[in-house]
Amino acid sequence: MTVEQIILLESERLILRQWQESDLEPFAALTSDPLVMQYFPAVLTRAESDALVKKLQNHITQHGWGFWAVELKATSECIGLVGMIHQNGDIPNAPFVEIGWRLSANHWRKGYTLEAARASLDFAFQTLGLNAVYAFTTLDNLPSIGVMEKLGMVNQQQDFNHPSLPVDHPMSRHCLYKIERDS
Ligand SMILES: CC(C)(COP(=O)(O)OP(=O)(O)OC[C@H]1O[C@@H](n2cnc3c(N)ncnc32)[C@H](O)[C@@H]1OP(=O)(O)O)[C@@H](O)C(=O)NCCC(=O)NCCS
Repeated sequence: MTVEQIILLESERLILRQWQESDLEPFAALTSDPLVMQYFPAVLTRAESDALVKKLQNHITQHGWGFWAVELKATSECIGLVGMIHQNGDIPNAPFVEIGWRLSANHWRKGYTLEAARASLDFAFQTLGLNAVYAFTTLDNLPSIGVMEKLGMVNQQQDFNHPSLPVDHPMSRHCLYKIERDS
């Protein structure tokens, strides 16, 4: 199934849009960077990164929204992903809509993730009419937890072992955050 309208969001400095061919290279540079991927089990090969883009593209084609490509208006370059996906994994409270982010390291600490996440949440609550959006990350990922807290998301105190990691993996334990429409 495909939807008629592919959503594009615009904020002050950013455009959140569907993925395109020219994003593959900058996204592969980001997913092969050990610094960006330090809270993921491994960096991605070019083939794995391209396959991930295809998956993200398909979610947007199917639903109209998803983990969008983040384009910097000033330069038109793709600097990473921010957005939301349907999460059906074996995670507390799932199924739910999950918000997520991953930016190339040379664009960190400029407020881009907050800006893109706020645009995503406005869309989730005002257009999609969702009641809540969730986020989760491994317990050591303080930058990501910092974004969650700055957005006003609340720790649900429902830490869990990520279903796709061995229980004894150092990144297994995850925290779960939530933001409600009326918050
Ligand atoms: C997490 C990530 C997306 C944050 O991106 P960013 O664009 O630097 O975030 P912002 O500039 O919008 O920062 C927003 C707030 O988040 C918090 N934050 C961001 N980076 C932080 C860090 N390194 N340490 C602590 N808090 C941090 C701060 O509160 C920050 O506000 P401030 O700069 O005014 O203090 C980025 O670090 C990243 O891509 N990390 C690798 C991928 C990843 O782990 N993704 C999440 C998987 S769950």
